[in-house]
Amino acid sequence: MMNTPLNSRGTALLEVTNLNTRIHTSRGELPAIQEVSLTLQSGEILGLVGESGSGKSVTLRSLLKLMPASAQVTGSVKWRGRELTELDAAALRSVRGGEIAMIFQEPMIALNPVLTVWRQIEESLHAHTTLNRKARRRRAIELLNQVGIPAPESRLDDYPHQFSGGMRQRVMIAIALAGNPKLLLADEPTTALDVTIQEQILKLLLNLRDQLGMGIIFVTHDLGVVAQLCDRVAVMYAGRIVETAPVADLLQRPRHPYTQGLIASVPQAGDARTSLQSIEGTPPSLLNLPAGCSFHPRCPYSTEVCRQQVPPLIRLSDNRQVACHHHQHIQQQLAEQLEGV
Ligand SMILES: Nc1ncnc2c1ncn2[C@@H]1O[C@H](COP(=O)(O)OP(=O)(O)O)[C@@H](O)[C@H]1O
Ligand SMILES: [Mg+2]
Repeated sequence: MMNTPLNSRGTALLEVTNLNTRIHTSRGELPAIQEVSLTLQSGEILGLVGESGSGKSVTLRSLLKLMPASAQVTGSVKWRGRELTELDAAALRSVRGGEIAMIFQEPMIALNPVLTVWRQIEESLHAHTTLNRKARRRRAIELLNQVGIPAPESRLDDYPHQFSGGMRQRVMIAIALAGNPKLLLADEPTTALDVTIQEQILKLLLNLRDQLGMGIIFVTHDLGVVAQLCDRVAVMYAGRIVETAPVADLLQRPRHPYTQGLIASVPQAGDARTSLQSIEGTPPSLLNLPAGCSFHPRCPYSTEVCRQQVPPLIRLSDNRQVACHHHQHIQQQLAEQLEGV
């Protein structure tokens, strides 16, 4: 089934159409993501939200062909009009870490523990810029300064373990920025950090977006983070995108029952960091997906059609999509609630 890209006006920075990733495992073929389509404009921050195992990381990794050999990826990934899936290994390497950079949840794994921060930034500057050594050193200091590391000259020759968790995450962002990326893929980069440090990193990313005009895809399971950071959100469930919308619309007028459940599970006051686990039931095993809509066993609106047919992701308006057989009913119900009927 073809999904239409979210926003087809103008040339998107990134346009993903019908991305499918199947992983061969000892227990069978695992459809990790199915029919994932999304677009991103320059300077836009898209949140990718969903429970653990819903396919967020596989989506990011599949975009850049970073999946293991056991995975089969199909679909189209258009990067500024170029088809990434058709690039050879060398061309793809120059895009990765250059025009498109990626940061991860745990910088201690992503950073090389035996190389100084300078060596790691320099590696990227060497690969993706034409600066000479002296200029690279200057640029490295500038980058550490840009991500808010105090006294950058004196920190450049330190090793990753000499930085605190929040500072390490900043180092990782500095390395990502070294290739002058136009797109930053961020895979839960603040999940391991405490709330105060998380807020600082989110502010930093917002500033960098404003200064550099980077697009960002930000993976998180935390709706509080989405509300603070993102322009638009795509919600994933069991490997599929089930709803996309501008962030305020999604939070105030969710159209998919799963999104409604996610929002209802966020505590009203106090700690905004929450896991998305208070929806009744558990996510299905991808090796044994329910027939029809994968969410139907947990869904309060479920009827016969939900047990039989996968709902297509349909366009509600220019920038809203939903995959639910009962979206009209839900919309009506919500409108009545808002009117206080
Ligand atoms: N290399 C792999 N081998 C086998 N299964 C994988 C691999 N990578 C991811 N998966 C499976 O794919 C599904 C989606 O994973 P992932 O994208 O990491 O979820 P998320 O990032 O949303 O928590 C999960 O069921 C996960 O177990
Ligand atoms: Mg993940």
